[in-house]
Amino acid sequence: MANCDICTVVIVLIGYMGCGKSTVGKQLAKAMGIPFVDLDAHMEKVEKMSIASIFDTKGEIYFRKKEATLLLELLDAKDPMILALGGGTPCYGNVMQELLSNANVITIYLQCSVELLTQRLWEEKETRPLIAHIATQEALNEFIRKHLFERSPFYMMASIKLHTNSRSQKELVEQILFALL
Ligand code: S3P
Repeated sequence: MANCDICTVVIVLIGYMGCGKSTVGKQLAKAMGIPFVDLDAHMEKVEKMSIASIFDTKGEIYFRKKEATLLLELLDAKDPMILALGGGTPCYGNVMQELLSNANVITIYLQCSVELLTQRLWEEKETRPLIAHIATQEALNEFIRKHLFERSPFYMMASIKLHTNSRSQKELVEQILFALL
């Protein structure tokens, strides 16, 4: 990646659970030669427990405050990186405003259809505390539809918005690199 302005920034990937923030983020980081950080994985390391256990033992409010604090710490370090947020991170407190007002941050929303999110999340819902209890695929679809409706206004504030459904991982990385130039 030749563009030096881009080399100094933190590229923040946002979007609903299952939209591909981590998989695309890793590929993008590789293509740009900068580190990839997953905020959930970072929190698990700091807290020395899984996200599900944090929700279970400390509760969601603790989790929301902690994810915002850890995010601001990472941004304060001003190290270039690709940073994948949790699905809810930009939707609480003033996180989205913080991201948008930070001159070193570029926000990218990976937009994905409710149908595709339902398919993906149904396979792996056990590890995700917000949806682990949902019993049927229809109920999961309904949950995601409503939840995404509530969260979309936050996601849509991102500087770059990309539809991911019909694109391969490779195409998405290329699209992002193109959008960053
Ligand atoms: C959450 C999404 C998860 C994780 C936590 C809460 C959310 O991250 O932060 O389970 O509120 O949407 P992923 O989007 O990486 O699955």
